[in-house]
Amino acid sequence: MRLIQHKKEAYWFYRFLSLGYDRYVNPLFWTARMRAEALELARLDRPDLRTADVGAGTGFATEGVVARVDPARVTMLDQSPHQIARARAKPALDGVEKVLGDAEDLPFGTDELDRYVSTGSIEYWPDPQRAIAEAYRVLKPGGVAMLAGPLPPGNPIARRLADAWMLFPPEAAYRRWFERAGFDAVSVRHIAPDWHRAGAAPYALAIAGTKPAPGASPASTVVAGRPERLQEPMTVGRSIRFAGRFAAGSLAGALFVPIAAALEARHRLGRRRGA
Ligand SMILES: C[S@@+](CC[C@H](N)C(=O)[O-])C[C@H]1O[C@@H](n2cnc3c(N)ncnc32)[C@H](O)[C@@H]1O
Repeated sequence: MRLIQHKKEAYWFYRFLSLGYDRYVNPLFWTARMRAEALELARLDRPDLRTADVGAGTGFATEGVVARVDPARVTMLDQSPHQIARARAKPALDGVEKVLGDAEDLPFGTDELDRYVSTGSIEYWPDPQRAIAEAYRVLKPGGVAMLAGPLPPGNPIARRLADAWMLFPPEAAYRRWFERAGFDAVSVRHIAPDWHRAGAAPYALAIAGTKPAPGASPASTVVAGRPERLQEPMTVGRSIRFAGRFAAGSLAGALFVPIAAALEARHRLGRRRGA
């Protein structure tokens, strides 16, 4: 498991990252154009679609959802109270229900939703297959799940860093998780910020699939009453290991910010020179 691919570490990571998430992280790594391209796969074609945004954070993707779906039909779910608190401060998200919860154990009934959206959260899930099986379970037959997530960087040093930090699954893994969960008509679209060089390895993807039949996923591994890792008691040894993993993981993640900022600056300069 990667350094931050753990619920408790992700919780603390977002305790701090939440402070600058909208201002510094999204404009570099997850832009409005990428969001629009990913949400196209979610087929948000009616305002009454009962929709959940899972790992919704401060609501950047949810803002794209409520541009097409009645906010009263949308639920944001996140395990971080700090991220959700920022979403609460956004007037555009006023009518949206906001719940604390776990992507791997969704608080929705079987066959309840029309659409499931999750963007940039899979990186932190200890068991992505379990979460994608949950996406399948909570959708109605004919419902669509769309998930966006990163791909392994092409540069070997960046890939090492990414791999140590959190989950950057290859495209084949995303496809396998969707197909094993039971989704039909699985489709993929590559997405990237403007600074990403054309011809470089793909940066991220959006993947979508349709639920063909009612009921739980054939890949469902949810066991009622399973002890929640987030609530495991903290011994001294675990606290020390946790602090070390958390510091190393955050440092590996933080190194991406100046790299992306430099590439974005180079891209802007090139555009200005070309204009
Ligand atoms: C990079 S942010 C993405 C936020 C948002 N989807 C967006 O488009 O900006 C990742 C979010 O996933 C949440 N998260 C991580 N693991 C989770 C889990 N197991 N269940 C629910 N949320 C989770 C984090 O708290 C964080 O808010």
